[in-house]
Amino acid sequence: MKNPRVHEIATAMIDAVRKVLIDHQVTEAEYRAGVMYMMKVAEAKETGLISDVFLNSTIVEIKAANTHGSAPAIQGPYFKEDAPFVDGKLKTYDSDDHKPLLLHGTVKDEAGGVVSDAVIDIWHSTPDGRYSGFGGYHGDMPVEYYRGKIRTDSQGRWRVQTTLPAPYQIPNKGPTGALLTMMGSHTWRPAHVHFKIRKDGFEPLTTQYYFEGGEWVDSDCCNGVQPELVMPAAIEQNMQVMVLDFVIEKPRA
Ligand code: BEZ
Ligand code: FE
Repeated sequence: MKNPRVHEIATAMIDAVRKVLIDHQVTEAEYRAGVMYMMKVAEAKETGLISDVFLNSTIVEIKAANTHGSAPAIQGPYFKEDAPFVDGKLKTYDSDDHKPLLLHGTVKDEAGGVVSDAVIDIWHSTPDGRYSGFGGYHGDMPVEYYRGKIRTDSQGRWRVQTTLPAPYQIPNKGPTGALLTMMGSHTWRPAHVHFKIRKDGFEPLTTQYYFEGGEWVDSDCCNGVQPELVMPAAIEQNMQVMVLDFVIEKPRA
């Protein structure tokens, strides 16, 4: 059965790729090499990764232009729906260098009203760029490490402690890393913490925040940094802190 939206987008995508092939006079050998490359991406289970490296930031750009809520950011391939609820602290490994990071703030609606009982997923990598709940490159770390869910209180406030994330390289031994390298780019992301805020009756907000002055903030391999997502360094209770007041919005008619 014809799907008009799929027809519209798939036809436009194929037309765009055909134009690139013609504009660049792509040869039969180059075309076959490209097809082989796509097969390698699938074999390496990097379809999600390569899509998010190159295209997630464009989807965010579209969303950002149409939102009155907080700035969205790329989700990337490492969100896990089954992360557990935590009691104020994310589980981290002792081998982590244990520089604490305090994260707190509020969730409000567009009119400034508090949003209680919103669920916030928080996740970040180990200092060496591994995400829990994924095998292979990520080393089979149980899903409860470096991620968790919390709820806002009756005043819309939230708070969680974790350890300071570091810049990391996306998986760089497979076809995604190889393509970035051949394109003259690199595989580094600046240190960041991911958030997903959800509450019935509101649009979900997926975002991530970076640290002012952090390495790679000015040249993220995923093009995910926007100025409003870069937070200045601040200290509270002898800990580095990020204070984030999220605004979520109701779906538009
Ligand atoms: C991340 O932020 O975790 C991420 C985003 C895009 C590609 C790979 C990782
Ligand atoms: Fe990440």
